[in-house]
Amino acid sequence: MPPRAFSANLSLSERRCARMEVEGAMAVLIACYSLTGTTRTVVAELARHLQADIEEIRCDRYDVSFMGWWRAAADSWRGRRPPIAPAVHGAGNYELVVLAGPIWAWHPCPPLRAYIQRERATLPDTALLLTHGGSAGQQSLDELQAWVGRPPKARLTVTAAEMKSGTYAEAVAHFAQSVRPRPALVPVQPASVPEVTR
Ligand SMILES: Cc1cc2nc3c(=O)[nH]c(=O)nc-3n(C[C@H](O)[C@H](O)[C@H](O)COP(=O)(O)O)c2cc1C
Repeated sequence: MPPRAFSANLSLSERRCARMEVEGAMAVLIACYSLTGTTRTVVAELARHLQADIEEIRCDRYDVSFMGWWRAAADSWRGRRPPIAPAVHGAGNYELVVLAGPIWAWHPCPPLRAYIQRERATLPDTALLLTHGGSAGQQSLDELQAWVGRPPKARLTVTAAEMKSGTYAEAVAHFAQSVRPRPALVPVQPASVPEVTR
């Protein structure tokens, strides 16, 4: 059967299904907060694998200064949700949203929490990604999963050591593979066999 052609008359979701059928692709958004650039680097690599759009979560409350870090740690510890800028991409327009950010003071960073609280009702399937220095990875993933309120398709933590050694790239490739849908099985037409005459 030839692949279904794209048509201007198809709805957005029908066009997505057609695209998945033809390319094995899916519409992915990565919603990412990064203060010092580590999560942004990981997300850029993941976006390359998944051909994903990136929603940069913007929050003015934290910066790279002693006071900025202090506020970041204190807010994270206290579970505060800071104001964040309006989103550029609608999470509901995607089939999968990857939620990504750093760990601060043994918890996922507060801007990610604010984003999830605001977008929870429109979130499709999710996958979770946290970067950190080496402590509280799994407990922070559990906490992030609890904020979303349902199990993700995949979870990943990336440590500073993995960033330094470069092994994070392999972990990201594996993570991308685990959230990507398996390509649909295409029925194989029986080959025409010439009739054998004796
Ligand atoms: C305020 C603050 C608190 C942090 N707390 C932790 C922590 O509890 N555990 C940890 O392993 N790393 C911690 N880190 C390190 C960051 O999680 C790590 O450097 C992360 O990759 C930074 O991501 P970013 O560059 O995308 O902002 C903390 C960093 C900051 C600035």
